[in-house]
Amino acid sequence: RYMAGWATKIEGSTHEHSVPFALQAQMVAYTRREPVGVVAAVVPWNFPLLVAIWKLGPALAAGCTVVLKPAEQTPLTALMLAELTQEAGFPPGVFNVVTGDGPGTGAPLVSHPLVNKVSFTGSTEVGKLIGHACVDHMTRFTLELGGKSPVIVLDDCDPATAAAGAANAIFFNHGQVCCAGSRLYVQKKMFDRVVADVADHARQLTLGHGLDPAAQMGPLVSQEQMDRVCGYIDIGRSQGAEVLAGGGRAGERGYFVQPTVLASVRPEHRVVREEIFGPVLVAMPYDDLDEVAAWANDSPFGLGASIWSNNLSQVHRLIPKLQAGSVWVNCHSMLDPGMPFGGYKQSGIGRDMGRAALDAYLETKSVFINV
Ligand code: NAI
Ligand code: MG
Repeated sequence: RYMAGWATKIEGSTHEHSVPFALQAQMVAYTRREPVGVVAAVVPWNFPLLVAIWKLGPALAAGCTVVLKPAEQTPLTALMLAELTQEAGFPPGVFNVVTGDGPGTGAPLVSHPLVNKVSFTGSTEVGKLIGHACVDHMTRFTLELGGKSPVIVLDDCDPATAAAGAANAIFFNHGQVCCAGSRLYVQKKMFDRVVADVADHARQLTLGHGLDPAAQMGPLVSQEQMDRVCGYIDIGRSQGAEVLAGGGRAGERGYFVQPTVLASVRPEHRVVREEIFGPVLVAMPYDDLDEVAAWANDSPFGLGASIWSNNLSQVHRLIPKLQAGSVWVNCHSMLDPGMPFGGYKQSGIGRDMGRAALDAYLETKSVFINV
């Protein structure tokens, strides 16, 4: 609905020219925005329908056509979406879906010479491949990639509120969230209390089938993802991390991983630096704001960050220091169709949602008319 509103609000601007040698001439100068053309949208499996809509909405509002490639793990909602667009009366060819894996279908799609813009959400590794492929044809591209988002608890905070918030920031969607709060920094005098509380939350989560209303956390998406996440927990342990909750696979059937909290980690540990994309939190104490800002930014990623505090002065001092595309205060992973979402640093290029997303599907044409 938000993006539909933009369809009637795409505007250029009129200009008074200032070219000295042409001052006598009567010039009409204006800009117009035009749809960029054919859009290839390549999306991941963690929020398959939602992320597809993030691409489709602004593309259609701008007047583009779309070829969507869903992740190989989750093609069904994309196909259902295509059926719904037919039912809704979209002209043939405006919205298209091709299913298949990355190398076989995604790669040829993004490097196709008739594609004008690629919009990708997924791993930083594949995002870089796609960016390189796009430059060959000067295909426009936006990338929404991985993260290792910090959750920063200041010393004035109510420990129970902060712990509940931190647990939700990492365990929501089993941690398979690009902006998951996967690094927890707590001011050192509150560290033990808050981290013990988060570990309690982790132990109390009920794991179960995704359609079981009593289940608070389901399985991970695939065997591959479960193995990757459990592998990281083992790497953490071997580098000296202390396991405060969880610590591996849950049960023998399905791809369940225990909600896991690791402490006694160091900034250079792989579990602190790399995106795990599962229910695994690393927790570290800090002294003061400058120190925690430096640690929060000591990451190749810059997608999100949350601050937990009611001290307005401290919060406002910290917000400009954080290298993150979204900063949340006393909440985490808040998204709105009107608010741009995307990454600093290796978390991506460009923004989904908001007016910024629309711009990525438009070209700007400057027109001079000598009248
Ligand atoms: P991926 O980045 O390989 O897959 C995402 C999409 O890209 C899928 O549709 C896939 O088919 C496609 N793809 C893969 N290789 C491609 C290529 N060469 N050219 C064009 N398209 C290609 O992610 P994967 O392998 O499923 O997950 C690996 C890790 O990536 C996860 O553990 C997580 O850390 C990260 N990830 C991050 C996401 C995010 O939302 N930022 C979403 C999914 C994964
Ligand atoms: Mg992959």
